[in-house]
Amino acid sequence: MPVDGVSQTSEPDGAARPATARLSVVLPTFNERDNLPVLIDRLDTVLAGIAWEAIVVDDNSPDGTAEAARAIAARDPRVRVIRRVGRRGLSGACIEGMLASSADYVAVMDADLQHDETLLPKMLAALSNGAADLAVASRHVEGGDVGSGLSSVRASGSGLANRLARLLLGVTLSDPMSGFFMIRRSEVERLAPGLSSQGFKILLDIVATARGSLRIVELPFVFRERLHGQSKLDTLVALDFLGLLLSKFVGDVVSVRFLMFMMVGASGVIVHMAALFALIELEGMSFQLAQTAATFVAMTTNFWLNNRLTYRDRRLRGLAALRGLLTFYLVCGFGVIANVGVASLVYQEDAGRILIGLAGAAGAVMGAVWNYAASSVLTWRKA
Ligand code: GDD
Ligand code: MN
Repeated sequence: MPVDGVSQTSEPDGAARPATARLSVVLPTFNERDNLPVLIDRLDTVLAGIAWEAIVVDDNSPDGTAEAARAIAARDPRVRVIRRVGRRGLSGACIEGMLASSADYVAVMDADLQHDETLLPKMLAALSNGAADLAVASRHVEGGDVGSGLSSVRASGSGLANRLARLLLGVTLSDPMSGFFMIRRSEVERLAPGLSSQGFKILLDIVATARGSLRIVELPFVFRERLHGQSKLDTLVALDFLGLLLSKFVGDVVSVRFLMFMMVGASGVIVHMAALFALIELEGMSFQLAQTAATFVAMTTNFWLNNRLTYRDRRLRGLAALRGLLTFYLVCGFGVIANVGVASLVYQEDAGRILIGLAGAAGAVMGAVWNYAASSVLTWRKA
């Protein structure tokens, strides 16, 4: 492939390498083997005359995306590949890709051809004339459209997410869920320490972390349909978005992961109560037995949700999931001891209502913190 618009420097061994690119296009991939070559071809066409490079960040896709990317890179020095093993996650992949760039401008776009690559030159123009620091491709400004690329459930969820982001964080993007944007690299370097590598809402994270310090332009685009492969984002990731919103809202004092764990824990209380009443009312179980059974039901749904959501990047499957569930029961069991222990320390004989409440809450917090800390080490330990 010809290296259009890139000045060449000669290496001692005669191999030609392009000089530093002006634009890096970060392409996070998970199972995009068939889409990637098509996309690189399209970039080659649409970015003719611009010194660009593509940085593919692949999370060890089982379909061999990384090998496919290496094969392209062997022919085209503008293509670089980062293969991450033992890690999963869109935001983290985007951050690593952006930080691997030395170009003035970095774009992030999906590698599945759903994003309209013809927008890239327009985004670059908007940034390089100095008018903006961040150019966002939006499906919700005049001329943009989600097209048929998004299911109706996802579309309405996306609308709600926008309103929440505005309400809680004052982020007034028309499409904060967009995964397609371009930013000055200097701004990425500045904001990177404040970004969360968990989840998939990298744009929202950037804008929220910048706290109004970025000049933003929005450009309309139509979200295309996927041709090869399937979406990796299920409906559960909406909760992931909520976690990021809350974590930013409380000023980053607690991690997104901890907040998700707490949200799951809160849902467990509801599950517990529902199971308790159902077992007593419908099955005529004794209170003690029903309470024990409800505890196990709630621990099990908590484990399942945490495995799907809080620890999506370390999800346990098969036998490992069973082992994980058992360690989770164990952790929660000790959590009860921590809970009651701390509560009894705070509680005193003849205590009034307030102290009882305080003791109960202190115990619950202790139990929750213990469960979180212990399960992160025992159940979802890093590979
Ligand atoms: N490295 C890496 N690791 N890449 C990933 C991962 C991951 O864990 N998960 C997804 N990707 C890549 C996909 O291969 C694809 O290139 C891109 O990220 C988007 O993933 P999709 O699975 O195609 O997402 P989508 O089309 O359902 O969601 C799109 O719309 C959302 C808004 O509704 C994306 O553009 C999202 O970014 C966007 O928020
Ligand atoms: Mn997609």
